[in-house]
Amino acid sequence: IIVTAGPTIEPIDPVRFISNHSSGKMGYALVDAACNKGANVTLISGPVHLKNHPESELIKISTADEMLQAFEKINLKKIDYIFMCAAVSDYSPKNKNSQKIKRENNDLKIECTSAPDIIKIIAKKTDATIIAFALETENGEKNAQKKLKNKNADFIVLNYANEEGAGFNSNTNHVYIYDKNGQSVEFKKDRKDRIAYKILDWVTN
Ligand code: C5P
Repeated sequence: IIVTAGPTIEPIDPVRFISNHSSGKMGYALVDAACNKGANVTLISGPVHLKNHPESELIKISTADEMLQAFEKINLKKIDYIFMCAAVSDYSPKNKNSQKIKRENNDLKIECTSAPDIIKIIAKKTDATIIAFALETENGEKNAQKKLKNKNADFIVLNYANEEGAGFNSNTNHVYIYDKNGQSVEFKKDRKDRIAYKILDWVTN
């Protein structure tokens, strides 16, 4: 199986970037659970402060483009499950300044382009079951269902960024899983390591 985890960071100049608060905890917990259950796991991870399970293969990336390149090097025909847990940037700065941008007395505009939607691209190249993740602040179910369809994923795991004890950086999570056949399940607030086993069991059964 492949698990993606953590944030991506999209450079503005040599010292600044656009990123998000993803800690990687949910993805790394999924890797631990999958390794403990005997799966052969490749982890594609953005920069985080976590240790990967010794039995997993770690591919380190920083940008959305690098994550896509990492996928392109893997024979996706051999993969059974892809957990897209990473908080991949939706936008990246159009031009990376080669030198540090200097302070001026006017506003700074950073033009961004759409980053590659990795799930959409890989969904066309694999028969693996794809599990997308949606971190929302409002209209969670509606947004998650839309992404499930739009990204051609088999499952989508929804959690809320603005809920106490869930989402980014928390050691616990509270998730809803929707699938393309209209089934859904809720896993109430629990430690991320336990939620990881519940997600794995739900999508593999
Ligand atoms: O559209 P949004 O970023 O909310 O979608 C979240 C899901 O899509 C996650 O599973 C994430 O890993 C994936 N994603 C992606 N490529 C992007 C952005 C998000 O595969 N550029």
